[in-house]
Amino acid sequence: MLMDMRPDPFVPPAPLPRTVPPSRLEIIRTILRNPLELWGEPSYTLPWIRTSFFGQRTLIVNDPGLIKHVLVDNANNYCMSEIRQLVLRPILRDGLLTAEGAVWKRSRKAVAPVFTPRHAKGFAGQMLRQSEDYARKYAVVGEAGAIFDISTDMTELTFAILADTLFSGEIVTSSGHFADDVNELLHRMGRVDPMDLLRAPSWVPRVTRIGGQKVLDKFRAIVRNTMDLRLAKMKADRSAAPNDFLTLLLEQAGPDGLTKEEIEDNILTFIGAGHETTARALAWTLYCVSNSPHIRAAMEEEIDRVLASGAEPVEWPDLMPQTHAAFEEALRLYPPAPSINRAAISDDSWTSPKGERVEIEAGVTVLIMPWTLHRHELHWDRPRAYMPERFLPENRAAIGRFQFLPFGAGPRVCIGATFALQEAVIALAVLMHRYRFDSTDQTNPWPVQKLTTQPQNGLPMRVTRRTVSKPA
Ligand code: HEM
Repeated sequence: MLMDMRPDPFVPPAPLPRTVPPSRLEIIRTILRNPLELWGEPSYTLPWIRTSFFGQRTLIVNDPGLIKHVLVDNANNYCMSEIRQLVLRPILRDGLLTAEGAVWKRSRKAVAPVFTPRHAKGFAGQMLRQSEDYARKYAVVGEAGAIFDISTDMTELTFAILADTLFSGEIVTSSGHFADDVNELLHRMGRVDPMDLLRAPSWVPRVTRIGGQKVLDKFRAIVRNTMDLRLAKMKADRSAAPNDFLTLLLEQAGPDGLTKEEIEDNILTFIGAGHETTARALAWTLYCVSNSPHIRAAMEEEIDRVLASGAEPVEWPDLMPQTHAAFEEALRLYPPAPSINRAAISDDSWTSPKGERVEIEAGVTVLIMPWTLHRHELHWDRPRAYMPERFLPENRAAIGRFQFLPFGAGPRVCIGATFALQEAVIALAVLMHRYRFDSTDQTNPWPVQKLTTQPQNGLPMRVTRRTVSKPA
């Protein structure tokens, strides 16, 4: 028998499943502090669980067949859950993430051309340029390297990529810290408040969001100025205006297209949804890789070889399976969107292949949680361990479509998934080709669910310059 000589995989930090159910007060406290700490043993071991949150009947679903039923096969019977909308709609109104029905359909159709795989490939050059520009930030590090907060850095990098690719760098802001401002907005506004749990109407003030309206007003003004500037350019000479997402959106204005407000909502939505998610996953990847020396060595070899070959960045995702897999495994362990919430519109039912029938009554909230699904005992071998080899092409077929859901599924699947995966491989390749990212005594990240799954108190890591050896 062959002995497995690989070192033990790294098991990164995460809350352990609860063994005792929390009290009502503890549920509120945990939801405010960190919803990832709420889930008990059954959520990581059972295919579905019926429960009740503050009187709201809830079905937690971890069965791939049942997930497919809700998100795809009978998707028309499910709307966005009330609590999700109470949190997100005040910020994003009728943007694609929060719109429903006819408005959602019109918006999705309007923006889809920018996110087709073919079009997303066209962004590879800009993704490379922005990653290279950003990597220069680390050029100051000496022999011993220096500590940087990688969580903040990845947010700045993905924001720069988003602003360049979708807006041609023409977001009108006087602040040099626009990415920080976006984060402040999302974190002030984008969290569950006790009033949401009690289903208070939206006019009841939310204490956790005090100050948020001011930041939101500032943002809306930036978005309007950005729109006005581009409209003026388009009016003066349409052919001189960039052919980007912003122009495409503005061209949808009209009685059969989008209203001015919907265009504004979508700009805000894409700024919000389009960079922080990828940034979180990039930071978690660098952290997990820094604790997995054999994986890092394989990635460095792969990256150095592909870059030395002169391959175009658009080809990198296909040529770098190790890097791609390292990112996907981080998406598994730290899904940036840790829960996908729906509510049943009318009574529904589903029968498992074993003949078990699940009734889903109208009004029931359905919680599909990539967080528990991706760490579920029924679906994964060593679920808590960082093992990118699961996602290598030769093993990938063993992972079911509905057991790995970082981007959701069905009609509301993430429109930016191809964009994000390509961006991640290019950014990782540029950064890891030049630098090494190491954990230090200060690197003790704890995952918390804010709007995304992020390291509490940031992710300080030591960055040192690499000496790249020429491939043989
Ligand atoms: C690693 C990065 C990303 C992750 C993990 C992620 C995750 C998700 C998930 C899970 C959903 C579905 C939510 C639901 O069904 O309730 C979603 C939707 C969405 N995502 Fe992403 N996303 C990422 C990157 C992006 C990027 C780069 C963009 C845009 C440039 C984007 C824009 C959107 C939009 C607009 C929606 C709403 C789609 C709709 O409802 O029609 N996302 N994302």
